[in-house]
Amino acid sequence: MTDTLELELENPLPIDTIIKGNCIEEMKKLPSNSFDVAIIDPPYNLSSGGNWSWDNSEKLAGFGGNWSKVMENWDNMPLIEYFNFCSAWISEVKRLVKPTGSFWIHGTYHNIGIINFILQLQNIEIINEIVWYKRNSFPNLSGRRLTASHETILWGHTGTAKKREYYFDYEKSKSLSFPEDNLKQAGKQMRTVWDVPNNKSKEELAYGKHPTQKPIRLIKRMLDISAKYGDTILVPFVGSGTDCVAAKMNGLHYVGFELEDKYIKIANERLKHCDNGLTLFDSVSEEN
Ligand SMILES: C[S@@+](CC[C@H](N)C(=O)[O-])C[C@H]1O[C@@H](n2cnc3c(N)ncnc32)[C@H](O)[C@@H]1O
Repeated sequence: MTDTLELELENPLPIDTIIKGNCIEEMKKLPSNSFDVAIIDPPYNLSSGGNWSWDNSEKLAGFGGNWSKVMENWDNMPLIEYFNFCSAWISEVKRLVKPTGSFWIHGTYHNIGIINFILQLQNIEIINEIVWYKRNSFPNLSGRRLTASHETILWGHTGTAKKREYYFDYEKSKSLSFPEDNLKQAGKQMRTVWDVPNNKSKEELAYGKHPTQKPIRLIKRMLDISAKYGDTILVPFVGSGTDCVAAKMNGLHYVGFELEDKYIKIANERLKHCDNGLTLFDSVSEEN
C-alpha cells in the first residue's frame, strides 16, 4: 500500500483527470513517453462547409428526426489553419505516446486525408486504416449523393518502421466476436472493416449529449486489442468522455483534455457512474 502511494505521488501525470484547456498547450506540459495508447477524436472541420450531420434532438415529419449542421466554433477553421492545428497535436501525440504504444485517429474524407498526409510528413507509420461501417446511417435526403455510411480510423504507432514495438493482442483480436458485428466471427482474424452500429444506449446518453459522440463499443474494441490492463490512455479531445469511460471500463487509466465546461461536466458524470475495471488497490503501474 505504501509503495502504491509513493508511486502515485511521484507520478508526474494528472492521472484519471480531465483537464480544461487547449490540448496542444496542455500536452506540452507533460513528459515525453508518458502514454501507452492515444484515442483521438479531433474536430473534423465540418462546420465550415455544407456538410450535414444527424441531430436527433428534433423531429422531422416522415423521417423521425432532423438533419442539422454541427455548428461549433471548435469545428470551423480555414484549411491551412486546420492543417497547422492537426500538425501541432500530432507532433505532441508522437512525443507523448511510447514507441511500445499506438494511437487511433477518427475521421471522414473531409479531414482524414490531411491527417494521413501529416502522419507521413512526421515519419509516423500507419498500421491500419479501419473502415467503421455504420449500418444504421440515416438516408441521404438530397438524393444528390450516396448515403454516407462509414467513417475512417487510422491506427498508427510512434516507433520506427525498422523496429516495430507497438503492443497488439493478436490472439485476442482473433478470438473476439461481437453480437452486433456481422463481419467478425470468433476464431477468425479481425479485418479492417468493423460493423459497429452508431446507436448509443440509454446509459451512454444519461448525463447529456455531444453532437459527435462515439459509441462506447467502438472505443472498447480499439482498447481491447491495443492496451494492457493498467495502461495509461491519452485523450486529447474528450467531448462527452466516451474514450475515458471505455478506458475505465477496461481497467485502464486516462488523462484527457477538453475546451468546453459543458462537455467536461457530462464526461465527469459518466465517469462517476461507470463500472471500474480497475481493482481497489490498482494504481499506476511502475512502467507508467
Ligand atoms: C469530435 S469531439 C469528441 C467527441 C467524443 N469522442 C465523444 O464521444 O463525446 C471533439 C471535442 O474536442 C473539443 N476540442 C476542440 N478543440 C480542442 C482543443 N484544442 N483542445 C481540447 N479540446 C478541444 C471540442 O470541444 C469537442 O468536444
